[in-house]
Amino acid sequence: MRLKKQAGGKMAENFKEFHENAIYEASIELDITDFCNMKCFMCSRGCDLNNIKKGMLSISDIEKFLKESVDIDYKWKIIRIIGGEPTIHPDFIEIMDIIYDYKIKHNTDLKIWLTTNGVTEKSRQLAAAVAERLFVLDTTGKVAGEYVNPGFWSPYMKPSDLGITADEQFMIRCIAPSEYAMSLTSAGYCICGCHSSVFLRILGKDSEMKSVKDLLNIEKFTKQMKELCSICGFQVKTYEFNVSDYWKKVFEEKNIKPEFMEYNK
Ligand SMILES: C[S@@+](CC[C@H](N)C(=O)[O-])C[C@H]1O[C@@H](n2cnc3c(N)ncnc32)[C@H](O)[C@@H]1O
Ligand code: SF4
Ligand code: SF4
Repeated sequence: MRLKKQAGGKMAENFKEFHENAIYEASIELDITDFCNMKCFMCSRGCDLNNIKKGMLSISDIEKFLKESVDIDYKWKIIRIIGGEPTIHPDFIEIMDIIYDYKIKHNTDLKIWLTTNGVTEKSRQLAAAVAERLFVLDTTGKVAGEYVNPGFWSPYMKPSDLGITADEQFMIRCIAPSEYAMSLTSAGYCICGCHSSVFLRILGKDSEMKSVKDLLNIEKFTKQMKELCSICGFQVKTYEFNVSDYWKKVFEEKNIKPEFMEYNK
């Protein structure tokens, strides 16, 4: 049964419901690389920012994730291969093979998604090479050099900088963990596939969630939500050159220069 979403409610109940929804949806994004061949304006993975931590998932990271999922008998419904640009991972094909092998042996209902910008011929060829095994091939069809995506909103708007209180914030209700996915990234397991991992990398932190078990643990999940959702612009959605005071300070302290973002104008 799909859990009902409701606006408002007590904050603790909201966290519980968020987490239950996320577990029920069983959808995870694997950010197999934080690198990209594009620098889209306000990319949710910070590909437009210099001076931030970037990494990749190794084959053994993926194997560990799958083995643990099997060991605890948690069946993912959707695994999305994403990034950064996933097709530039040096082990892209092998990673896709390993995930397909897991589906055949342990989880035949699994839906495998691939999201690629499809900018280069090589990306398109690699996507075509694995397309038969995918449930969805999401080629977002970006164009080299065209870095402004009109529908992108700024991650870097801390709600309290705008006078939005914590209670109000969680009444707005970000639907990312359940509607999109949780994630495994170079920074570890994260509550969502949208903005949480870039925040950790910008702040120079690793996730305290080190395993699938941790991700399914409500205390650990809630701890990360409290920390990262409170600095996230997803819930306020501004589509302009916007960076709130908290993030301006972080960018200054860490000498982060958004390459296409005139955030302090
Ligand atoms: C982070 S990208 C990674 C995959 C691939 N590089 C691509 O762009 O298709 C995944 C999805 O997030 C979207 N996205 C990235 N930054 C966003 C933002 N700030 N707001 C809304 N969507 C965003 C992209 O358009 C893409 O559909
Ligand atoms: S192509 Fe995707 S990952 Fe790369 S910068 Fe654009 S939105 Fe970010
Ligand atoms: S970090 Fe942002 S996008 Fe992710 S769950 Fe929290 S509010 Fe939503």
